[in-house]
Amino acid sequence: MLFSGKNIIVTGASGDLGTAIIKRLICQGANVLAVDSDDAGLSHLVAEVSGAGVLEIFVADVSNGEEVLSYATRAFALWGPVDGFVNNAGIQTPVRSIVEFPEEDFDRVMAVNVRGVFLGMKHVLPRMRDGGSVVNMSSALGVVGGAGIVAYVASKHAIIGMTKTAALEQGPRGIRVNAAAPGPIACRMTFKLADEVFAGSNKSFAETVPLRRHGTPEDVAGLVSYLLSDDSSYATGTTHAVDGGFTTG
Ligand SMILES: NC(=O)c1ccc[n+]([C@@H]2O[C@H](COP(=O)([O-])OP(=O)(O)OC[C@H]3O[C@@H](n4cnc5c(N)ncnc54)[C@H](O)[C@@H]3O)[C@@H](O)[C@H]2O)c1
Repeated sequence: MLFSGKNIIVTGASGDLGTAIIKRLICQGANVLAVDSDDAGLSHLVAEVSGAGVLEIFVADVSNGEEVLSYATRAFALWGPVDGFVNNAGIQTPVRSIVEFPEEDFDRVMAVNVRGVFLGMKHVLPRMRDGGSVVNMSSALGVVGGAGIVAYVASKHAIIGMTKTAALEQGPRGIRVNAAAPGPIACRMTFKLADEVFAGSNKSFAETVPLRRHGTPEDVAGLVSYLLSDDSSYATGTTHAVDGGFTTG
């Protein structure tokens, strides 16, 4: 039981990756506060997850400071200091070149992906146990560019900058802050993007990576589990790819 008695917050909890991460953590004995703006999705999650750990849910918009403070406070009230924080909620938009990219889409992505990750750290870190671990969900597109998705690419690069900054600030407390950078994972977000990028052809992102397959949500959950656990106890401020080699060439 890798996470027995550990208190862990996961945002974007009812999405494809959040669900896989939470299943892994609950199997390993964690107390998980699952945060998402999608009330129905959280109810679905409760029905789907079982294991040795304890699952609590909390409806909140990660881009709203008061709601972020509320979920951080709730986690502390439930189980005391937080041991792990998976800052995972994120959104993508329709594909458009920069000159055609709607301002409101840019602002919406920045609000959730950048402000949400910042606010999460702002309110969870003071409630975290010394020696805890934060995993911020960036992307392979936080390391390389991507035509047509300027806001997403900018937001995921920003998460890596915030991760490095938080690692510098929190190091003296023994709190580690790392970024996970998934490539194309077999789930809704990837398939929706592929529908636009490869429209009218039979191509998929699987052909664009050296390993010639999509990743699975479980591949990402494995990396997150590693970064939350003591197995990664000397890693901080880093970005860990789980992308089948997408960013290698
Ligand atoms: N799926 C991939 O291939 C992939 C690759 C790289 C990075 N990522 C990143 O991983 C994270 C999870 O992706 P996913 O594939 O599970 O996506 P998803 O769309 O399945 O899940 C995202 C979840 O975030 C929630 N959410 C959105 N806005 C929110 C807000 N304002 N407040 C609270 N919750 C909100 C949604 O309700 C949803 O449950 C995202 O940050 C995404 O950018 C995904």
